Amino acid sequence: MGSLIDGFGRRFPYLRLSVIEACNFRCSYCLPNGYQTVPDAKMPLQIDEISRLLRAFAAVGMSKVRITGGEPTLRKDLPDIIAAAAAVPGIGKIAMTSNGCVLKRQSRIWRDAGLTHLNLSVDTLDAAAFHTITGHDRLSDILEGIESLLDDGFDTLKINAVMLRGLNDDQLPAWLEYLRTRPLGIRFIELMQTGTNRAYFERHHYRAEALEQQLLASAWQLQPSVADAGPARVYRHPDYKGSIGVIAPYSKDFCAGCNRLRVTAAGDLRLCLFGNTGIPLRHYLGSDADNGALQSALISQLGLKAIGHRLHEGETGLVPHLASIGG
Ligand code: 5AD
Ligand code: SF4
Repeated sequence: MGSLIDGFGRRFPYLRLSVIEACNFRCSYCLPNGYQTVPDAKMPLQIDEISRLLRAFAAVGMSKVRITGGEPTLRKDLPDIIAAAAAVPGIGKIAMTSNGCVLKRQSRIWRDAGLTHLNLSVDTLDAAAFHTITGHDRLSDILEGIESLLDDGFDTLKINAVMLRGLNDDQLPAWLEYLRTRPLGIRFIELMQTGTNRAYFERHHYRAEALEQQLLASAWQLQPSVADAGPARVYRHPDYKGSIGVIAPYSKDFCAGCNRLRVTAAGDLRLCLFGNTGIPLRHYLGSDADNGALQSALISQLGLKAIGHRLHEGETGLVPHLASIGG
């Protein structure tokens, strides 16, 4: 069998697999009114289907999977999903993105099941602002969960913060203080426009370059990018244990380094976060006998992957909000 490579020579070792669309938070840029169930919602992929999907992707070159949502920890069988990924030969990195709502109680279970990397969404270190942004008062709980992971030596930990004008753009000094002694990375993510947040985007969009200028002015240094890196531009400073990454989806060349594919909770392939293309894969997932056909389908779909997104033109693709595809 061949491997995952598109018409522009890009390889795709990285799969982002959403395992549930629902989320219990109400982040103002994503699900301001909370997750609304849709009447004809398709059932998320079940363990056997996930297992077959991951085996097919691994057979054509995928080596890192990120479990996303919605909020993946709302799946009761999350430890089984992690273990299913860990059982596939060739998958060396098993990552997850979570809002941290059950971090304190469950991180041990996820790690025992095989989780290797964890990204947590923490948009601010200010408890009141955290409540305003997410609709929940969970900041101190989440920070305690992070502290105990660090005490435990788990340092493949990252924090994601979406930059929001007027809501958390005063937080850089607090984050710098936080990073002085903690060996983890924070990723500042530029707000992206989706199908449902246009007015919000106009009000709160904060340019990544403005932040990067502040970093450079305080002697943070841009690191050379390493192979297999994500889309973040990473900065370090000799006086700080932590690092800072900036994710700027509107920057020139953002898509040139694309190394990822996505699968929605119900098993639809998405070639691009904001693309309009992608096919259902679920009908290949009912039996092991279809695994070869699935691998061929993945390879031929990649031929259709476009060179870049068209966000600049206000084209947001199929995506109403990122909970529907896991970011
Ligand atoms: N723009 C940028 N990032 C977003 N996320 C969700 N919606 C958006 C958006 N419109 C991020 C969250 C979280 C991850 C799941 O996706 O902050 O870290
Ligand atoms: Fe939930 Fe993540 Fe969306 Fe927040 S950003 S509402 S945690 S899916």
